[in-house]
Amino acid sequence: MWSVSLCIAATVVVSITHWLYRWWNPKCNGNLPPGSMGWPLLGETIQFFAPNSTWDTPPFVKERMKRYGSIFRTSLVGRPVIVSTDSDLNNMIFQQEGQLFQSCLCIAATVVVSITHWLYRWWNPKCNGNLPPGSMGWPLLGETIQFFAPNSTWDTPPFVKERMKRYGSIFRTSLVGRPVIVSTDSDLNNMIFQQEGQLFQSWYPDSFTEVFGRQNVGSLHGYMYKYLKNMVLYLFGPESLKKMLNEVETVATRNLDKWAGQESVELKDVTANMIFDLTAKKLISYDPEKSSENLRENFVAFIQGLISFPLDIPGTAYHKCLQGRKKAMTMLTNMLDERRANPRKVKSDFFDYVLEELDRGDTILTEAIALDLMFVLLFASFETTSLAITVAVRLLTENPQALQKLTEEHENILRNRENKESGLTWKEYKSMSYTFQLINETVRLANIVPGVFRKALKDIKIKDYTIPAGWAVMVCPPAVHLNPNNYKDPLEFNPSRWERMEQKGASKYFMAFGGGMRFCVGTDFTKVQMAVFLHCLVTKYRWQTVRGGEIIIGSCCVEKFGNNTKFLNSNYAEDDFSQEHVKLDAIQAPRC
Ligand code: HEM
Repeated sequence: MWSVSLCIAATVVVSITHWLYRWWNPKCNGNLPPGSMGWPLLGETIQFFAPNSTWDTPPFVKERMKRYGSIFRTSLVGRPVIVSTDSDLNNMIFQQEGQLFQSCLCIAATVVVSITHWLYRWWNPKCNGNLPPGSMGWPLLGETIQFFAPNSTWDTPPFVKERMKRYGSIFRTSLVGRPVIVSTDSDLNNMIFQQEGQLFQSWYPDSFTEVFGRQNVGSLHGYMYKYLKNMVLYLFGPESLKKMLNEVETVATRNLDKWAGQESVELKDVTANMIFDLTAKKLISYDPEKSSENLRENFVAFIQGLISFPLDIPGTAYHKCLQGRKKAMTMLTNMLDERRANPRKVKSDFFDYVLEELDRGDTILTEAIALDLMFVLLFASFETTSLAITVAVRLLTENPQALQKLTEEHENILRNRENKESGLTWKEYKSMSYTFQLINETVRLANIVPGVFRKALKDIKIKDYTIPAGWAVMVCPPAVHLNPNNYKDPLEFNPSRWERMEQKGASKYFMAFGGGMRFCVGTDFTKVQMAVFLHCLVTKYRWQTVRGGEIIIGSCCVEKFGNNTKFLNSNYAEDDFSQEHVKLDAIQAPRC
């Protein structure tokens, strides 16, 4: 009690002392005129009002003029006052009457008008025509939070679905600080893909560019872009894939064997590792078992970071993602330097190819561009294909008829093989018609890339609307793939529907791998990996899903799709398999 009182008393004393100090030494951003502030509170009020019987300047002022000069300070009726006996200052005071106040008022009014105008423009953006309907959400934030909200269905993301109902197939919104037109219209989507470089240009939000590198293939245009695309096609085109087929089969068999020996595996994780290792081996001859550092580890926090709010602050998913990129890029740079120092006689991987190019005097390739490309390819290959395989396995688990048809196709291949000892041939691969239907149906339902971004290069008129130049445009493939007008019972897994449809490339109704000039360069690589994996799986193994969970799908990019699966080799009795209680594990697949 005593100590509390002491504390209060001390606080009071300190406060009063401070107040007194401030009374006698008022704050001033400069040199305060000399003078005295008199007694606390009272100031020099009594002296000021003292009567005077002369015609002369009042003694109060005269004395202080003598002491302090023509301008001095004092305190009257509780207010600090500057007394001026100086003709220049007096003149200025009269001339500047109201000026300062007016200036402040003017600034405040300008600020208010500017903010109001900015808010008005935010909600009513300029457009030389009819802007698509929609809402721009909160100032700056837009509708970003609603866009990123997770979703637990296979269906079109609720963010898009709700707005399609309210505004129609083309609507406007604002995401991560940018005005965006969202297109769920197959005609506009097709036009966007076909008009690449003319009316639209590949564009991705800054957060993506930071993560994938400013010179990544998606952000490059014109000659440089074509040059890089050819480079990738050289690596993952049909000729290279033919040579790679047996290696893909060996890798799949080896991994399936390993998983069958384990209690259970998280399918998305193990397939991602398998594909990452294969791609890294092809691109840079990376062998995780021989390397002292783990390259794959740097890509772990990636998807979470990509779909998070782009805040680069320690602790955020985005920050972790950027850190991962930094480390991976350092590793790739070191590996390239090492290869430069110890060139190989037989050129066999992407590093060899890049070094050869860099040594040529007239190349347009730079080391930075080559490293950004390497990074994008590593990421694009394992995240997308592993998810497609996981979804395919899950869909097969849920659809025994499709599994049976697939198994028959692959057992037929083995039955008709002349040399029983040989591995898969390119001809056999090409004959897997039901498998290709199944792959198309899987990627149609999975919508692994749920948003493809572009920028309008000029004002574009489409269906009574105008897309203003400079605006971002987001093509939304799920809205096309899951539209009942385009696919009968769109949420049903029915690979056979592709018997009657074009299966190669893209169309107005199928854009899982994009379309037009920027159609995915990894499509054939993905199909080879999926088909070969499914071949090995259904001809040699049975599996059961051992842990249940729910699907969580967000609005931007696929995050995680777990499927905890137990693999059993082929002598596992069919009867037992049919009695399996199939339970699915936590499956997460956020989308753009
Ligand atoms: C299921 C697997 C995959 C899906 C669903 C997929 C989807 C897509 C889509 C939709 C695009 C178009 C993006 C745009 O237009 O802006 C694209 C582009 C691209 N993909 Fe894939 N992809 C897959 C696998 C792969 C693989 C395995 C690789 C690497 C080997 C890869 C490398 C790329 C690259 C480099 C681009 C950029 C092409 C460009 O800008 O011209 N993708 N992918």
